[in-house]
Amino acid sequence: MTNTNLLNIAKNAMKKSYCPYSGFRVGAALLCEDDIVFTGCNIENGAYSPSNCAERTAFFKAISEGYTKFEKIAIVGGHNGKFQNFCYPCGVCLQVMNEFCDSDFLIILIDENNNIIEKKLNCFLPFGFNL
Ligand code: THU
Repeated sequence: MTNTNLLNIAKNAMKKSYCPYSGFRVGAALLCEDDIVFTGCNIENGAYSPSNCAERTAFFKAISEGYTKFEKIAIVGGHNGKFQNFCYPCGVCLQVMNEFCDSDFLIILIDENNNIIEKKLNCFLPFGFNL
């Protein structure tokens, strides 16, 4: 699965975002072993704290379906679905990745000029907490 394909899947997932409070749509596409992809979008809540990020939606869908080997994730996001800057994953999502992924798990991001970042998880979170 190429990064471009995975980013396109993430862009489609972004359309499903439920974000009436922030207006910030995020989509994620998580590549598991055997070329299986799980998508995710952010899902907000009027009580705010029950909201879930797109990345964690994708991870929790995959894990709850029995997929636990992960290669890479593509993430896109922006106000009203127009992505401009890279949508870096938040610290909570990085910690979830730290729980389930090796340090060479790849995070792929794109900006409005089609610049692509592909970096390892340990670049974003070099000292993740582990029990
Ligand atoms: N959001 C994500 O889905 N992923 C991130 O990595 C950062 C933020 C969502 C949460 C919220 O619904 C909206 O973006 C604005 O913070």
